[in-house]
Amino acid sequence: MRRLRGIVCALALFPVPAVRGDLSAQAIAMNCLNCHASGQAAVSRLPELGRISTAELEQALLAFKYDRRNATLMPRLAKAYSDAELAAVAAYLGRH
Ligand code: HEC
Repeated sequence: MRRLRGIVCALALFPVPAVRGDLSAQAIAMNCLNCHASGQAAVSRLPELGRISTAELEQALLAFKYDRRNATLMPRLAKAYSDAELAAVAAYLGRH
């Protein structure tokens, strides 16, 4: 138990920012895929995000967030994330 506590403390003292960033992009992407999943794309008629380039995806998300692009749902969703989070999720989901 004492040893475990030591390991937990060591992890708390040395966070790994790069890994945390990747994890949060992945966590955000899971939300996106609820609606945009490739398997459902044909049914829902929503675009498959993996076909859009990372740069275009980021531009679209920023346009939604800052009301430069008319839409129903995406502006509300995009406003929930920082610009950096939108860039991270675009890099995670976009076509490379
Ligand atoms: C609740 C369902 C839902 C979720 C969750 C969702 N979207 Fe969307 N998305 C939509 C809808 C609906 C549209 C069509 C535009 C509109 O009316 O908002 C859209 C459109 C888009 C477009 C425009 C595609 C094009 O035609 O150019 C992009 C890019 C996009 N979404 C990215 C994302 C990303 C990235 C996430 C995760 C942060 C996400 N979406 C989460 C429903 C969703």
